[in-house]
Amino acid sequence: MHKSFVVWFTGLSGAGKTTLAVELEKKLRELGYENVQRLDGDIVRQDLTRDLGFTREDRNENIRRVGFVTELLSKNGVITICSFISPYRDARKKVRERVTKHGIPFIEVYVKCPLEVLIERDPKGLYAKALRGEIKNFTGIDDPYEEPENPEVIVETDKETVEESLEKILNYLKNENLILGGRPK
Ligand SMILES: Nc1ncnc2c1ncn2[C@@H]1O[C@H](COP(=O)(O)OP(=O)(O)OP(=O)(O)O)[C@@H](O)[C@H]1O
Ligand SMILES: [Mg+2]
Repeated sequence: MHKSFVVWFTGLSGAGKTTLAVELEKKLRELGYENVQRLDGDIVRQDLTRDLGFTREDRNENIRRVGFVTELLSKNGVITICSFISPYRDARKKVRERVTKHGIPFIEVYVKCPLEVLIERDPKGLYAKALRGEIKNFTGIDDPYEEPENPEVIVETDKETVEESLEKILNYLKNENLILGGRPK
């Protein structure tokens, strides 16, 4: 069985976490990796954490539960790709610790994009609502986002195409010997 690792996408809403997670999963499957599981904020919040809101406490509880699942999956050889705003540094650090304590690599990808561009992009119309005050606790508007201090990869989605950002991530994985050019390890 191939080696597992965790790719953790963090960044503001609309920055490109889901887009890149979907593309990464697709690429890994094309390369022959079969045990790949994606966990995405929008989907997880409809099920595993549907009882939670967007206070600091609830956001951290959301990530704590996801961390539990991520640990179980990655411990059992599943490449786990997580896409969550995960605005709090401490919550991300805790997930990192529960993965790396098993010797499993944790790759934090900071999906970076200036707020002005996101407000312009607004794929879900959420920024418009948050700016009108119709949604409260919206990250980047009236809720904080703590930037990663030492992410393994930074993608700047206002300057790069999806393909270029994906390439950066794949290059990191190749350089770390987590994936080979063509075949699973
Ligand atoms: N380099 C890039 N990487 C990823 N997405 C990009 C890039 N350049 C432009 N985009 C566009 O940015 C948008 C990102 O939306 P996406 O739903 O992936 O964001 P998200 O980070 O998952 O947001 P949310 O936290 O609300 O789920 C898409 O429309 C995508 O096509
Ligand atoms: Mg998303």
